[in-house]
Amino acid sequence: MKIVYVVGARPNFMKIAPLMSTMARAGFAEQKLVHTGQHFDVSMSDVFFGDLGMPVPDIYLGIGSGSHAEQTAKVMTGFETVCFREKPDLVVVAGDVNSTMACAIDCAKLRIPCAHVEAGLRSFDLNMPEEVNRIITDRVCDLLLTPSRDADENLRREGTPEDRIFRVGNVMIDTLLAHLDRARQAATPTRFGVQPGRYALLTLHRPSNVDDHIVLCGLLGAVEEIQKELPVVFPVHPRTRGQLAEFELTKHLETLGGLKICEPLGYLDFLALTSQAKVVLTDSGGLQEETTALGIPCLTMRENTERPVTVEEGTNTLVGMDPARIISAVRDVLAGRGKAGRVPDLWDGKASERIVQVFSSWWTVRREQKIRL
Ligand code: UD1
Repeated sequence: MKIVYVVGARPNFMKIAPLMSTMARAGFAEQKLVHTGQHFDVSMSDVFFGDLGMPVPDIYLGIGSGSHAEQTAKVMTGFETVCFREKPDLVVVAGDVNSTMACAIDCAKLRIPCAHVEAGLRSFDLNMPEEVNRIITDRVCDLLLTPSRDADENLRREGTPEDRIFRVGNVMIDTLLAHLDRARQAATPTRFGVQPGRYALLTLHRPSNVDDHIVLCGLLGAVEEIQKELPVVFPVHPRTRGQLAEFELTKHLETLGGLKICEPLGYLDFLALTSQAKVVLTDSGGLQEETTALGIPCLTMRENTERPVTVEEGTNTLVGMDPARIISAVRDVLAGRGKAGRVPDLWDGKASERIVQVFSSWWTVRREQKIRL
């Protein structure tokens, strides 16, 4: 069996890494890794290969940035050529980035079976480009590997045949649990001049938060207040760095004594900071899950989430974009009223083993069908 895995952007790496290594141990498939190059900076891409022990990609498409249409079209064209050449029995895509959807569409058109890791998540907000990617990817994929019950229900509601849905748990938590001890050994908080348990970690990159001047200024106003009471470490995503420069906000932020601004971090450094934070402020998807797995209170600066289990069972609170609400939620955490939460079902570090089981059973049936033909 030949499997081609696709990674493109930062959140893909930690989802594909455990699957490739578990599959390699199972030993029943030839594996190839394709990197579309949607993310290309050392800090957004290369550093993860070292940190996660991932193999160097067999094929690099070098797509880079562009409008959604440009990026999607370039990935589709590049990956189609890969499919013609490699003739995979199965393609595996993960998450909800443009590369995910582009490769899933290629597979659907070429009738190559495609598996989607992290299927079924829905924010029900079509203003998010990722929601479009999620819906289309799930509609055309053959094996839908879901992290939680809500994801199964979303797929059923959309009329997805039952035999495509496999609840395997959260594969990103496999990566987190495998690296947590190593991450904690690094004295990362000290390097940023903060003490474990006594700082906030901030990430911000959603277009809806950083591309609008008024929204971004409101969020940064809240951060300005918070850093007076609790140091804030802020690794800045390239999109956000660009917007801060565009709106001429960078210089002012650099004058704030409690705000530690830095470049995007590698997996281990970032996990070290997340796992020892007092509170995490974010608009990321994955970080809502990682904080739930770690029991760290997370304040999500969005009006909705495609990961409701992190709110219902975990440590996540949706605080929206209103500065007063964000500041008051941080003060609640400082007063000991942060959510403790519990770890959802099947977020146990064994999701990739369950995926390998799914692939193995699927391949057995498919091979028999091929022999009969
Ligand atoms: C993408 C994903 C988003 C994910 C995020 C994680 C889509 C639609 N969005 O958003 O779901 O949460 O990645 O980071 O796929 N840039 C660099 N260097 C890089 C990567 C990007 O400078 O290595 C710049 C680009 O040139 C562009 C901006 O950052 O100006 C945004 O990059 P892009 O890939 O379009 O989307 P993200 O905002 O990163």
